[in-house]
Amino acid sequence: MSESVSRRQWLIKTGVGVGASVALPGLLPALEASRAMGGVSYSAVLEQLERDITTQRRAAGPIRLCFNENPFGMSPKAKEAIMGAWNEHPHYDPPAMKELTSTYAQYLGVAPANVLITQGSSEVLSLAALAAGMQGGEVVLPWPTYEQLPEYAISMGLTVHKVPLDADLHHDLSAMEAKINGKTKVVFVCNPNNPTGMLDNQQRMRDFVISTSKKCLVVVDEAYHDFVDDPSYRSMTDLVTAGHNIIVSRTASKIHSLAGLRIGFAIAQPDVLKKMAEFSTGNPNTFGMRAAIASVQDTEYQAFVKAKNLEGRALLTAALTKAGRRVAASHTNFVFFHAGRPVEQLQKHFLDKGFRVGRAFQPFNDWCRVSIGTPDEMKQFVALLPQALA
Ligand SMILES: Cc1ncc(COP(=O)(O)O)c(C=O)c1O
Repeated sequence: MSESVSRRQWLIKTGVGVGASVALPGLLPALEASRAMGGVSYSAVLEQLERDITTQRRAAGPIRLCFNENPFGMSPKAKEAIMGAWNEHPHYDPPAMKELTSTYAQYLGVAPANVLITQGSSEVLSLAALAAGMQGGEVVLPWPTYEQLPEYAISMGLTVHKVPLDADLHHDLSAMEAKINGKTKVVFVCNPNNPTGMLDNQQRMRDFVISTSKKCLVVVDEAYHDFVDDPSYRSMTDLVTAGHNIIVSRTASKIHSLAGLRIGFAIAQPDVLKKMAEFSTGNPNTFGMRAAIASVQDTEYQAFVKAKNLEGRALLTAALTKAGRRVAASHTNFVFFHAGRPVEQLQKHFLDKGFRVGRAFQPFNDWCRVSIGTPDEMKQFVALLPQALA
């Protein structure tokens, strides 16, 4: 009997599945899904989830297309796993930590010694800056990109070289190479990048990462890895197995929709992870880790989210292209496009119509980043575009 089945039985035996839904309304969707999984197909549960979530998000106020969140919420199996984790809380060293480490290592095809579980992948990026830059030095990265690592490095007094993206919005790897010197402690790449959503040429990026890792630590942010379906794309985790001095950063916040539960993953050499762990300020929480274990194994939920994301992204990209806008080729759950007017104006325009869109990413002040919502939300959103872009 599988562990998830025995948890389901535990819910039923203890009566939590019936009585607690009244006392704990916030947990109701998990319980409903849990009960439904006994009688209905899982794809029907996911289709119902889509209908429920679209209604709930509309009722909750402006629709958030601003933080690259997964609109569908966590997998029903992750909710169920959380319900079964209530008895694990007396422990300072929750068994979920070891289990998630080995589950994720197995999923990636690396050794458990190459995986560190963190409090969101933002912590991976902060710990990388801390572990490599305690004695000062320099950091080289593309610009714009995800800002956690540079902000952290600047607050530690490191010099950060922000190398502008090239004219096609790719990492300018030659210009980045030119900035690397004996004082460089960390080189950061983000593939696909945020805010552009663009994927970088695979072989050139790999060669750059390998050659740079012989000079200093390279951090490869793969937060959006799970949304990519370009056949030429390869994650860099195999470079860790091959012994290179890199940290690959992954997250449970995006395709797994666990942003509020703060689970991230560093994949690196054991000595690098040990040094990072020394700087960590606390352990990830048991609920998040249990949810992540279930979600990583829930390939049907991941495929569902990916397919819905593709559907919503295609709607948005087609509408923007039709409106004659330059659109960055997205491989993620957001789209970056040339709005042709200050993004603050667009933010206000869309907020008045019930949608929050992304902020400005310097120096792209007249570009806008829109996260992908449910297909229904995207249909409503694209209907607003002609007026917004007029
Ligand atoms: C590129 C990138 N890396 C890392 C993160 C951090 O995610 P988290 O700390 O939730 O894992 C984000 C969040 O949006 C991101 O866009």
